[in-house]
Amino acid sequence: MYSQDEYRSLAKKLFIAATHYYRGEDSGLADEQYDRYYRILKDCETQHPDWTVSYSPTQSVGGFLNQSNSLERKSHTRFMGSLDNVFDEEEFAAWASKTQQDFIKTPLVGELKIDGLAVSLIFEDGILIEALTRGDGYEGESVLHAIRTIKNCPLALQEPFTGEVRGEVCFKTKDFQHLVKRQEELGLKVFSNPRNAAAGSLRLLDIQEVSRRPLSFIGYSVIDHPALQSQSHSLSWLKHQGFEVSQYTCFAHSISEAIAFYHEILAKRADLDYGIDGIVFKIDAFEIQSLLGETSRTPRWAIAWKCPADEAITLLRAVELQVGRLGAITPVAHLNPVTIGSVTVSHATLHNFQEIARKNLKIGQYVRVRRAGDVIPEVLGPVLDVSLMSGQVITEITPPTQCPCCNSSLVQEDKSLWCINDRECPEQILQKITYAFSRESFDISGLSIETIRKVLKKYPRVQGPADIYTLSVNEWLDLDGIADLSAYNITTQLTRAIQECTLEKILLFFSIRHCGKVAAERLARALTWDQILQANQEQYLSVQGIGPVTAEALALFFSTKFFQQQYQILLENGLNLIAKIPAYKNDKLNGKHIVITGSFENYSRSHIAQWIVERGGFVSDTVSKKTNYLIMGQKPGSKKDKAIMLNIPIVDGLEELKLFMERFD
Ligand code: IVH
Repeated sequence: MYSQDEYRSLAKKLFIAATHYYRGEDSGLADEQYDRYYRILKDCETQHPDWTVSYSPTQSVGGFLNQSNSLERKSHTRFMGSLDNVFDEEEFAAWASKTQQDFIKTPLVGELKIDGLAVSLIFEDGILIEALTRGDGYEGESVLHAIRTIKNCPLALQEPFTGEVRGEVCFKTKDFQHLVKRQEELGLKVFSNPRNAAAGSLRLLDIQEVSRRPLSFIGYSVIDHPALQSQSHSLSWLKHQGFEVSQYTCFAHSISEAIAFYHEILAKRADLDYGIDGIVFKIDAFEIQSLLGETSRTPRWAIAWKCPADEAITLLRAVELQVGRLGAITPVAHLNPVTIGSVTVSHATLHNFQEIARKNLKIGQYVRVRRAGDVIPEVLGPVLDVSLMSGQVITEITPPTQCPCCNSSLVQEDKSLWCINDRECPEQILQKITYAFSRESFDISGLSIETIRKVLKKYPRVQGPADIYTLSVNEWLDLDGIADLSAYNITTQLTRAIQECTLEKILLFFSIRHCGKVAAERLARALTWDQILQANQEQYLSVQGIGPVTAEALALFFSTKFFQQQYQILLENGLNLIAKIPAYKNDKLNGKHIVITGSFENYSRSHIAQWIVERGGFVSDTVSKKTNYLIMGQKPGSKKDKAIMLNIPIVDGLEELKLFMERFD
């Protein structure tokens, strides 16, 4: 007979062997031995079904095979934020001296900012049981099957840790070069840079193919480990558990030491193992990190000092005016094609006319162009080199007074010129409808801007996104270049999208001015659709993160006849709003920041976190002045002391937690 502990250790052993085998490595167990252990495991599970652990090899091929045809979306237990950026020494010093001034002088840890994709690895009892991409920070996609192919990523830790390790998935430069060669040889897609290649590879469903792409994982943070008190300690813990961490790190006791590290790395940039887009500096002590806290998306205790992006020099041939979906007029530079960091650039944004004037740009000049990662290339400024300028016809770039598409007078607001003829300007209508069916909103593949352009030309009654629902299958078929199958595909997708629409998507569907993704997400978390429709300006304003400009724009938009008509069409076509996962239960914790610490007998921390998010609250990592409650279980650690110091209400122990849950249920 086997004890539960013996069962668990056997399950771990087999899991690790199976994974090594699956990676094409030596499993460390002879086949015969594996089979014998497997039978024991199975017997234990038959006798004690409640012992069965999720990582037991008897439990399907979970994670080893991805048999579905899409990645599963799952909630993060803690919001996965990003970092604020600084771009030069002055900005960095300002950040560092502010944090040092507000709090005690405290050392910083410097790490490479790896140019890849953030992934959160979830461990249970030291076994990797889940891996999620960042997604929107609240919800990511499960990429466990791909992560398990990564050879430098441990699948089982040295200790039975339950919590998360976050880090970056990337291609090392050498591995990327091999990949490019292989793809070229096989006549397959050649990626333009390691980051895109990593993103594409991680999301592949075909595991055989993922395992041929040598990805790497570099760890940078540990979540929920009670014994870790600092970033430097976390990095050494990660190394000890078998993770690779930043190739270079520094422990800076002064701003000048940090600056010196930045320059030292910049000089080595070309020789690093992987591409970086900056250096991240983090306050070392978690205690001080907690005191500094976070803004809504980024921590105050860390900063990314970005490296200068890749640049090139080329001729500015012409300037085109583009009308955006919200009416902004954006000048776009047409350039002589030039290669920057292995990508050919022929267009770049000029942002707005104030920028053009500030940089003193003219057509016919040679200009410096910058391309950073996935960001749209931008024109930095002219190169006033006489030899380059000779023989060129130089033309001034003057701001337009009328919309290049509908001729209506433009209005200056903020830094941009705007076409405010939003219901009639054909370009705005085209852009708004395209956006409504893009990945950001209804996500209909096959409804490209070209198809929408054809629709608008042929069916003038289409004036807004909802009007797309009035087209019959025959009308789709009557469009040039639309085959039977794609008409069928589009209409079935349209039906699916309207029947499974989230609040956030319906808000984005209408391209309401001043209501972008962040605002839509905030509204969707705080209010129901009925509340959104009926709210007045004040009520929008009461939603955390919604300012007066957005509140006014929302109130105005929902009162228009245009909206009423469009909404009616959606209703007639079966609009059904579904809750986003995690399902929204009520808003009793709306805007409340809650920290969970210690352990509970009947609830896992992720269970409590989910319960909070479902009621509109935010689960934060660190106790700060903004924290509304600390939920505290057994062995709470230093968060308790901080909460007491800052006078934050504490929900102490299981009984109080139950009462708290009843109160907000
Ligand atoms: S710490 C709250 N450390 O940069 C976020 N991030 O722009 C804490 N990144 O989303 C992140 N290297 O994907 C951290 N050494 C490093 C990093 C790093 C790359 C990425 C990460 C993050 C993004 C923020």
